Amino acid sequence: MRVLVISGASSEGNTSKQCQAFLSGLPSDWESELVSVGGLRIAHCEGCNACRNGRCRFDDDMCQIFGSFDKADIVVFATPVRFNSPSSQIKTVMDRFQFLWNNPGAVAKKRRYMTFIGSAGRAIPDVRPLISAFRSFCLGFGGTWLEHHVFAGTDSSTAGMEEVARNYAVGLSETVTAMETSSADS
Ligand SMILES: Cc1cc2nc3c(=O)[nH]c(=O)nc-3n(C[C@H](O)[C@H](O)[C@H](O)COP(=O)(O)O)c2cc1C
Repeated sequence: MRVLVISGASSEGNTSKQCQAFLSGLPSDWESELVSVGGLRIAHCEGCNACRNGRCRFDDDMCQIFGSFDKADIVVFATPVRFNSPSSQIKTVMDRFQFLWNNPGAVAKKRRYMTFIGSAGRAIPDVRPLISAFRSFCLGFGGTWLEHHVFAGTDSSTAGMEEVARNYAVGLSETVTAMETSSADS
């Protein structure tokens, strides 16, 4: 399996540490790639729908993300919770998928699992808007939704954050392996 993590977090922050821990919890024979949006040049989608003609008007680093998305079997968005929402970096990437919405043939048609991980300052954050955004994205692109993971309460403590992210990766990989096995059997 090939896992793509698209991170819309600062490189030194909590979510970034979570991403590293998550990747370290995946099976050693799985391939993985971490794309950090912060280091990329990605313009905001302007909704011009020029991509209906097969080409986005922006020639920027989204090409790299589309290439990685094409190859991935599992796509994990990573974001800090910001005003109960995904970070603006992640939202910018999501909006640019309008290109694939208009050109679904631009990536391989295959089963892709999707979910998100993140961190939140509050002990009991309201992550419903994130679930709604990422799940809608997943289902909109024909993906199979997996249970998300948000580490809460970072304003007070981040103790255990990395261990939980690693354990979550173990659980996620076992779930996907079981789903793949059962679909191969049927
Ligand atoms: C602009 C902004 C908005 C935030 N909004 C929320 C929020 O709505 N709920 C919450 O629990 N934490 C919120 N936080 C706290 C972050 O989610 C938390 O500190 C997180 O662990 C930061 O991750 P990072 O270090 O990867 O940026 C916010 C932080 C910032 C900077």
